[in-house]
Amino acid sequence: MISRRRCSATGPKPRAMFECFCPTRRRPPLTLHSARRIDGTQLAKTLRLEVARQATELSASGHRPGLAVLLVGDASASAVYVRNKVRACEEAGIRSILEHLPADISQDALLHRIEVLNRAPDIHGILVQLPLPAHIDSHAVIATIDPAKDVDGFHVANAGALLTGRPNLTPCTPAGVMAMLAHEGVVLRGAEAVVIGASNIVGKPMALLLQAAGATVTLCNSKTRDLGAHTLRADVLVVAAGKAKLIDGSMIKPGAVVIDVGIHRQHDGTLCGDVDFDSAARVAAAVSPVPGGVGPMTIAMLLVNTVRAAELQLKLGVPDVPH
Ligand code: GUN
Repeated sequence: MISRRRCSATGPKPRAMFECFCPTRRRPPLTLHSARRIDGTQLAKTLRLEVARQATELSASGHRPGLAVLLVGDASASAVYVRNKVRACEEAGIRSILEHLPADISQDALLHRIEVLNRAPDIHGILVQLPLPAHIDSHAVIATIDPAKDVDGFHVANAGALLTGRPNLTPCTPAGVMAMLAHEGVVLRGAEAVVIGASNIVGKPMALLLQAAGATVTLCNSKTRDLGAHTLRADVLVVAAGKAKLIDGSMIKPGAVVIDVGIHRQHDGTLCGDVDFDSAARVAAAVSPVPGGVGPMTIAMLLVNTVRAAELQLKLGVPDVPH
């Protein structure tokens, strides 16, 4: 048996090393601290009930909200996402149409279809699922959507409104993350927030929303040097890097709130996020899981945006133009 003296003689070694020299010592529990699990599914359910109530009111006044979802091509992940969006609409009493267009549709034909939907009085929201096939310029597509119907919040008019502090229709995933943080009671004013991933869909609008809420924001990208030096400073860490388990507990500040935007299918068929949940949960105060975190919130915020778009269009008296 290894003596006590030998253990203490090893000095302040990392725990794993200490245990190696002291096999009879009782192992400390693996989970010294376990973070709160931020339940996006539950919060999304609450939001969807409220949206359903608003949609019912609009329908009763003769203006059922309507969303058009355009899917180009056969990417299986995109097909699953749009199916979930359309199903959520139906459950909330929002009329939805799903247009599945061929992968080789010309850009002109797609733009023409969007122009028709722009003029349709019973369609209040238009969503073109991204990514698009390589021959189609996604910027041109987004620019063609009427900003009033841009429920993704991707049009430059909506992106600019967010940038300049007058948000109108806000991108769904970052809006969902903000709702999760608010629900958790996270104080953003004065907080250090770090966002990983600088996409137009998530990272950039996320950084703007956090900044507008009073956080000091660092926006990291795929070329950021020493990512851990940034993440370890974060009181609030939002990870939208698109890399499975990029962030583990060693990169997280104790007591931080961690939101995982990533979703990946692992070899064993299970899903995981950009954050290694188990190790993160030993360090953070709260972590959003995958699945069951940001994903359901993105869909809920799409419904929120669709009802908002319908209300704005009705208040503005958008003329009924036959298509
Ligand atoms: N692809 C991945 N996320 C999104 C999203 O939020 N909206 C659209 N239109 N496409 C996406």
